[in-house]
Amino acid sequence: MGVMDAIKEKARAAKRRVALPEGTEERILKAAQAAVAERLVTPILLGDENAIRGRAAELGVALAGIEIHDMARSPVREKLAAKLSELRRDKGVDIARAQRLLDDKNCYGVMLVKDGHADAMVSGCTCPTADVLRPALQILKTEPGVSRVSGAFVMVSERKELGDDGITLFADCAVNPVLTPRELAEVAISSARTLKRLLGLEPRVAMLSFSTKGSASHDVVEKVIEATRLAREIDPGLIIDGELQADAALIAAVGAKKAPGSPVAGRANVLVFPSLDAGNIGYKIAQRFGGCEAIGPILQGLNAAVNDLSRGATVADIVGTIAVAAVQAG
Ligand code: ACO
Repeated sequence: MGVMDAIKEKARAAKRRVALPEGTEERILKAAQAAVAERLVTPILLGDENAIRGRAAELGVALAGIEIHDMARSPVREKLAAKLSELRRDKGVDIARAQRLLDDKNCYGVMLVKDGHADAMVSGCTCPTADVLRPALQILKTEPGVSRVSGAFVMVSERKELGDDGITLFADCAVNPVLTPRELAEVAISSARTLKRLLGLEPRVAMLSFSTKGSASHDVVEKVIEATRLAREIDPGLIIDGELQADAALIAAVGAKKAPGSPVAGRANVLVFPSLDAGNIGYKIAQRFGGCEAIGPILQGLNAAVNDLSRGATVADIVGTIAVAAVQAG
């Protein structure tokens, strides 16, 4: 079974409700219809009900099994405004400002999750990443023990000797331009959790660098060494090693030579990059040069499941992201 098929099977069993704030967007309507056809989730389209119904009719999208949440007319809007104002009072959000913030579809979608009307949210095919992330970060906050939300990709390679049968999780590829050693350690722990939650695999985490076990010295190498130490301190059961170069992390013969005795070298299935530059460039190179399938970005460390879509996302990408969010929502 393929990786996405395995995720979809878990999504089916989870029976989650997923808010889709971009309710009149063609790809979202088609993805919602496909998600119902595949029995993955109950999609909740946000927006003006007449506009959604009109657009669906134009596109020939059947709305059976799909809920519509009309943001302007919803009976829960007042309650959401009161709750938002309560949550953000220290940031000067009074009821009137909360009402205005709820005009933003992503903020509204996040509040539906926060107030339990939806289990997860997927958005971003018509807006920048930051528009989806900011309300999620501000309202849902982080999981206990995590101070930074990060973004992972499940990379699937035809080369079965890499990771676990070709599956490797990369992070942080999407959110934090710069991280402290402590935050990098948290990314390692969040990434291990994501691999386990999503695919049931036992994580072996490599903390990547341009140095392996002291082969080079520099402040940025020290940061990775310190992050590895902190991750072990926070989670003594975690199988983690660093600092490791990517070849030492992934290729058994190189790992044995450069980091003999390492529990991770040569067999890592989680790669933690030292910066967003490295992670974002790294996953795109693996995708474009290496021919890997990239599933994500998967937001991790957040107190609820919210996932961002690329503006170039296809209907199939969106259906996959909906399934991932449903599994994350447990
Ligand atoms: N984890 C947890 N909370 C966070 C994080 C984080 N990583 N980043 C910001 N926050 C919180 C802040 O604490 C703040 O909360 P508060 O309002 O309660 O005080 C709130 O979010 C806003 O913080 P800002 O510092 O104002 O955040 P900013 O406006 O810079 O936006 C964002 C944060 C959107 C994540 C920003 O860092 C960003 O744009 N990152 C890069 C995203 C990107 O472009 N990625 C590459 C493309 S994606 C791809 O290629 C797959």
